[in-house]
Amino acid sequence: MDLFDKLKDRPSPLGPFTSEGYGYYTFPKLEGPLGPDMKFNGKDVVVWSINDYLGVGANDYIKQVDVEAAKKYSFSAPMGARLMTGNSDEHEALERELADFVHKPDALLLNFGYQGIMSVIHALVDRNDFLIYDELSHACIVDGKQLAMSESSVFKHNDIAGLEKQLQRAVARMKPNSSILVVSEGVFGMTGDLGKLKEIIALKEKYPFRLLVDDAHGFGTLGHDGSGAGTELGCQDGIDIYFGTFAKAVALIGAFVATEPSVIEFLKANVRSQIFAKTLPLALVASARERLKLIRENPQWRDKLWENAKKLRSGLRELGYNVLPSESPVTPVLTEGSTELCTTIMKEMREKHGVFVSGVAYPVVPKGMVLIRLIPMATHTDEHIKKTLNAFEAIKPIVFGNINVQKTA
Ligand SMILES: Cc1ncc(COP(=O)(O)O)c(C=O)c1O
Repeated sequence: MDLFDKLKDRPSPLGPFTSEGYGYYTFPKLEGPLGPDMKFNGKDVVVWSINDYLGVGANDYIKQVDVEAAKKYSFSAPMGARLMTGNSDEHEALERELADFVHKPDALLLNFGYQGIMSVIHALVDRNDFLIYDELSHACIVDGKQLAMSESSVFKHNDIAGLEKQLQRAVARMKPNSSILVVSEGVFGMTGDLGKLKEIIALKEKYPFRLLVDDAHGFGTLGHDGSGAGTELGCQDGIDIYFGTFAKAVALIGAFVATEPSVIEFLKANVRSQIFAKTLPLALVASARERLKLIRENPQWRDKLWENAKKLRSGLRELGYNVLPSESPVTPVLTEGSTELCTTIMKEMREKHGVFVSGVAYPVVPKGMVLIRLIPMATHTDEHIKKTLNAFEAIKPIVFGNINVQKTA
């Protein structure tokens, strides 16, 4: 059978949203300058779906930095992979600054978070090793497992007893040259709760393993200095390999891993997605350096982000919504309902109330549940929050229907 013909019958993971919902529920186009006020389908909307947590992407000074960096370096240079012709002083300086920022001795830049972490996992473990990860891990970790030849197993979300069982199983089957890599997230992106990093690290007393933490949402937003979930929980030292992406708080493309110099040296020669791919453009690297500096110098952005998150959550709870007990700025609102309810909520909010929110239904959440995920930013104002809460108030009859609403604590 012709491959292209076969693809026509292959079910899409997005179901009807691939075609009918295109441009609305999937691939929507938010237009205008990046920030909490954008345009969707020509309408003004307050946006709660982009991860520019600290407002770095909307910052006027950063826009100027980008222009200057592009003038100085262009978007082309350097050409080639880091290993060949794509290295520069800027790349190396950014690596030193990232390592310093997250309190690790060394760091390696990655072109993209997704491919980078997948490829790091692939490089770290081989067929003799064991990879154990949280069931709610991001797709890049699951795909890293697919690439790695190691044995892999999953533990229930943040279930430390479950992880311990998997560790016991792995230890019982280890050969002399076997090692164990445990992977968790700093912040779980859909639910906003933190990985139980302290408890995982405590297991190192009993079992021989190394811990890799994907802190995509925690990098820049958590900890007194923005150095992430480990610092927030007081256990950054126990994270053996820290992963952060620029895709959220830095509002850019690129990512990094930070760990011991000997491991970085190994990764430089073994992370295939970097060895066989063009390096990050210099303009981007120069901009990333300045963004990191700004994040360091403006802790009040994190305070404002948290202030907004708290105001939004308490307002939603006052209205009777079930806001999951998130420990990060991610604000998930869970309710009973079908996929249809999920799309109706998004449509009502966007069309009638000028509020852009994103929702997910089955299979991302269990059948019969709808999760609306709001991402507060430091750039949101009280007016944005008020407008959004008014909208949530207005759609209550649609959301709750016959459900008996109870205020959550
Ligand atoms: C938890 C997590 N890990 C990894 C990634 C991938 O990072 P990037 O967008 O830099 O490829 C994301 C999404 O951005 C994420 O949410």
